[in-house]
Amino acid sequence: MKHFLSFQDVPDLSQLITSGIVAKRNPFGDQEMGKNKTIGLLFFNSSLRTRISTQKAAQNLGLNVIVMNVGQDGWGLEMEEGVIMNGDKAEHVKEAAAVIGSYCDIIGIRSFASLSDREKDYQEIVFQQFKKYAGVPIINLESATRHPLQSLADCITIEEFKLKERPKVVLTWLPHFKPLPQAVANSFCEWMNHAEVELVVTHPKGYDLSPDFVGKGQVIYDQDKALEGADFVYGKNWSSYEHYGQVLSSDPSWMITNDKMSLTDNGKFMHCLPLRRNMKVADEVLDGPHSLVIEQAANREWAAQAALREILLGMK
Ligand code: CP
Repeated sequence: MKHFLSFQDVPDLSQLITSGIVAKRNPFGDQEMGKNKTIGLLFFNSSLRTRISTQKAAQNLGLNVIVMNVGQDGWGLEMEEGVIMNGDKAEHVKEAAAVIGSYCDIIGIRSFASLSDREKDYQEIVFQQFKKYAGVPIINLESATRHPLQSLADCITIEEFKLKERPKVVLTWLPHFKPLPQAVANSFCEWMNHAEVELVVTHPKGYDLSPDFVGKGQVIYDQDKALEGADFVYGKNWSSYEHYGQVLSSDPSWMITNDKMSLTDNGKFMHCLPLRRNMKVADEVLDGPHSLVIEQAANREWAAQAALREILLGMK
């Protein structure tokens, strides 16, 4: 694997899931693989899970790790080409990416959507520019439109907890007062479209995700109907794609409660975290026996290890 930016970079999903499960059983089995190599993890935005799990996974593989909050500590980076740099950006990505690529063998980047310009966000300019100018493999630590390391961890979690060959997986929108990106929901749909599951997506009208990501997923606007018989309920808030970045509803009746979970087939609850309790999901669900949120977050380490292992194999 040359880069890990989206599902399109994955040669074999089932092999990648197995690789994550193998890493979980034997974290240090490939410690020689990353010896004398360095990964740089660049964060333009906040993180808890992605930052620690990717650092841990890299260390398990013997990689040296540099973490930088570039959004906070670095020079402001200009991403557009051919502009007169007389604004607040002190450095161009052409130099910055090439310089970081000279120090690091792999670069991981987190850079969220602006939520103000859909066309620009969906072009993923930060990732395209680093891919063009760094000269080393790039890993997506969550971009404007995708969060593939989260999606791989989700696939591993579903594989571990499924009781049926083809479980019903329901992605449900949750209420939130702030506009949040579509990246996790997009990515989850993209990966579930290639997994052995029945995918259902439910949200209020006006929250349709891009059809490019929903793919074969069935959209049902009635949450109760969508949850019927679900084996996994994946909760997430996102802002409108159509009315880009807007909050059109924060209807509290979309919060996941035990009553909602009782519509499922003894379903498990998943969320990528972080989340606001009793606004998106009730305490009774998160603290109850059907919540997988901690197991899911723990699997971020093994997802990152599987992806990094594949990148290291591609560098040989
Ligand atoms: N799920 C996730 O990516 O968590 P962080 O934002 O804390 O990294």
